[in-house]
Amino acid sequence: MKTSYTLTDRMLHWALAFAILFILLTVFLRLNWMEKNHVAGILIDKLSALDITISKDQAIKIAKQIRKPMFDWHIYVGYFTAGVFVLRMLFHIKNKKSFSPVTSREKFQLWVYRIFYALLGTTLITGLLIKFGPNSIHKLAEDIHKLTLYYMIAFLVLHFGGILLAELGSKKGIVSKMIGGEK
Ligand code: HEM
Ligand code: HEM
Repeated sequence: MKTSYTLTDRMLHWALAFAILFILLTVFLRLNWMEKNHVAGILIDKLSALDITISKDQAIKIAKQIRKPMFDWHIYVGYFTAGVFVLRMLFHIKNKKSFSPVTSREKFQLWVYRIFYALLGTTLITGLLIKFGPNSIHKLAEDIHKLTLYYMIAFLVLHFGGILLAELGSKKGIVSKMIGGEK
């Protein structure tokens, strides 16, 4: 689709890629090792071995407190991602002429990226609404925001699969171009 990636393209791509992978790590921790019921269970268990009894509610409260500093980084890096998103949109509009898909495979790729950015926009807006929006839409924003995991995993499978195929096929060197620009 593009024969070269400008420095701006590459910087924005890698900023977005690392930010999203980091955010996915915070989600993974929230849903697994640092999951509140799981941590609460450990607290109840280990404290009861010391003859200290706490209720499930108290344990969950502590578990959330333990999780909080970790998940705060989801939100910080989320703001950063929103900044990258805005810059990507601005530079995309500026560079519009350089996107010129020819083959049907390139058109498909372009649409995958368009749909991805539309969904990412929704994720960022609902994330900001959870944080700063009115209480009345809190639950709705949260429900929509949580769906992010599904499209993100689908996109990453497509993206990594597509890049692997391109690298093995007709677009050899595409990954180094995304790192070092045109060689
Ligand atoms: C870590 C390994 C990754 C590699 C090696 C990689 C590589 C590439 C390459 C070579 C392209 C250009 C493909 C083309 O011309 O169609 C590209 C584009 C793109 N990648 Fe990645 N990518 C990685 C991770 C990610 C992640 C984690 C995301 C976000 C979830 C992402 C989002 C995008 C997007 C949206 C584009 C379209 C162009 C743009 O907006 O910058 N990539 N990637
Ligand atoms: C402005 C940016 C963002 C803000 C303010 C934000 C905020 C939040 C908050 C407050 C939660 C917790 C919701 C709850 O209590 O259950 C959450 C969950 C989540 N966020 Fe974000 N987020 C942002 C960006 C993102 C991005 C870019 C992604 C995608 C990689 C993402 C993926 C998720 C997922 C999958 C969950 C659900 C975790 C679960 O099931 O418990 N967020 N986000």
